[in-house]
Amino acid sequence: MALEGLNATVGPLELRTPLIAASGTVGSVWEWAEIADVSNYGAAVAKSVSPTPWDGRPAPRLAPTEAGMLNGIGIQNPGIDEWVGKMAHRIPTLGVPVWGSAVAGDPDGFALVAKALDASGISAVEVNLSCPNLEDGRMFSFDATLSRDVVEAASSVTGVPVGAKLSPNTPDIVAVADACRQAGADFVVLTNTALGFGLSIEDRMPLLSGGIGGYSGPGLKPISLRCVHEVARALPGFPIVGCGGVGNGRDLVEYLIAGASAVEAGTVHLSEPRAGSRLIREVRSVLRRLGVESLGEIVGTLGEW
Ligand SMILES: Cc1cc2nc3c(=O)[nH]c(=O)nc-3n(C[C@H](O)[C@H](O)[C@H](O)COP(=O)(O)O)c2cc1C
Repeated sequence: MALEGLNATVGPLELRTPLIAASGTVGSVWEWAEIADVSNYGAAVAKSVSPTPWDGRPAPRLAPTEAGMLNGIGIQNPGIDEWVGKMAHRIPTLGVPVWGSAVAGDPDGFALVAKALDASGISAVEVNLSCPNLEDGRMFSFDATLSRDVVEAASSVTGVPVGAKLSPNTPDIVAVADACRQAGADFVVLTNTALGFGLSIEDRMPLLSGGIGGYSGPGLKPISLRCVHEVARALPGFPIVGCGGVGNGRDLVEYLIAGASAVEAGTVHLSEPRAGSRLIREVRSVLRRLGVESLGEIVGTLGEW
């Protein structure tokens, strides 16, 4: 059931609320949907899936930090064929629109996965351009041309909206977002985790087996918010989904004011899988306090000094 006053629009997508569960933090969605009140969510993004199975990195793959966490899972996933077999029949029953997330080593691989995701009943596809899977450890989203090629390949084979998920480490986030837009992306997701590193002074070893990993949680918010702010200012009208460090309703509203049309929450679900009810309650309360009756009144309303 739609929550009054909280309808959100991301390009061609109509969402019943601006809250989206971020990829990799609610599993393949269906396990989580059994325990969470999914009516609070406009969509939930499934874990990224690749053309063939990926084993991921060996343990340790997760580590807490002072504010947030490091992960170096390495996108462990069963590959698209098994994913479709497990997910396609479940998607219509989950009570929340499911977005797929494609990852691959080249544009053809992204296209293969995006096409199969589309056929399995998802409502949108995110192309995960922000996983360090190129041979030199770089990411697609570091390069406007590579990002464009992936978006073009995925968009050309899907009928559902395509979003490009970028890294906050992208050197020129505006140029890459613009390349994605010109290649046919319907929206950008800003952002994935930031590159991070931690070590133990006792054994003088990195916290993660892969060394450098992805940093997420509260400390990521100002960094991702900066990306949203820059892209919203430079590319007005290009839909943005904010993501990074959302832990309460106020965080979510900050992203909306900066220019995001909807907002993903990730790490908060690992300690609080039912966070959606609290987040939406808090968003309502913040909006009421600000005298805002619908999201259209607040999205992209940041002033200037
Ligand atoms: C354990 C874990 C696994 C993740 N797996 C994926 C993934 O498969 N694909 C993806 O696009 N993002 C993945 N992410 C990134 C999140 O979707 C999100 O972009 C990031 O954590 C920042 O948001 P947050 O601070 O709210 O967690 C993962 C994050 C975590 C913590």
